[in-house]
Amino acid sequence: MTPIVKAFFDPDTNTVSYLVQEPEGTACAIIDSVLDFDHASGRTKTSSADQIVAYVRDNELRVEWILESHVHADHLSAAPYLQQELGGKIGIGEQIVTIQETFGKIFNEGTEFQRDGSQFDALFRDGDSFHVGQMRGDVLHTPGHTPACMTYVIGDAAFVGDTLFMPDFGTARCDFPGGSSEKLFESIQKILSLPDETRIFVGHDYKAPGRDEFAWETTVGEQKALNVHIGQGKSIEEFVEMRDARDATLPMPRLILPSLQVNMRAGQMPPADEQGDVFLKVPINKL
Ligand SMILES: [Fe+2]
Repeated sequence: MTPIVKAFFDPDTNTVSYLVQEPEGTACAIIDSVLDFDHASGRTKTSSADQIVAYVRDNELRVEWILESHVHADHLSAAPYLQQELGGKIGIGEQIVTIQETFGKIFNEGTEFQRDGSQFDALFRDGDSFHVGQMRGDVLHTPGHTPACMTYVIGDAAFVGDTLFMPDFGTARCDFPGGSSEKLFESIQKILSLPDETRIFVGHDYKAPGRDEFAWETTVGEQKALNVHIGQGKSIEEFVEMRDARDATLPMPRLILPSLQVNMRAGQMPPADEQGDVFLKVPINKL
């Protein structure tokens, strides 16, 4: 089965959101959507998500799933907005509970913040499957970047979130709480054991030395041959040494604090105060 995949690139956060559609039919799923957020003003906008809404309406599609590959640390999810506009169930990996536990503490959330994943409609485990119309989706647990990262394989297309990036850029960082370069290496081997012709759609692109165009689609075969961090059969020792050294030099993503607080709630803002106003926190010296 070869689903139709439409990519929506957000240049502000270098995120690629995907709409995956039945080749013959109207069912679709949306993966890793973006709610625009201007940190300086604290203002949200739905321009990015509205492109997806318009595409769904123009093509008379039916949204069955709104999937998150993980709790993103660099952009806010538009899942609740898309659900309100288009319907569909919001799904993420069951290890979200670990993320909620960790960041519930860091953000000093009260007991009203449930750490059981109940903000989501579905929690996936490794080996689970789901359907988008006639298409079957298979779920792989691919931790490393975060403990809850999932890869969704729908027909011949694998949506790998932040595990592998384009072959010339490499792999995702592993230094967030609960991250592990050893685990990422193992997760990537799982992805690379899919057939060589499997299409891989990555969660971000930042261009790369010698490439001046954004790109987000590659294949398992290309990754095995060309990935600068893991291709040509690199060993786990080589990978871990390279990844950990590189991660030590990376700054925190610009939107990490708002992203985590919102995304751990399935894209909802924290509850409003008595006046109906909504606030996000800045924990000092915690990250
Ligand atoms: Fe991420």
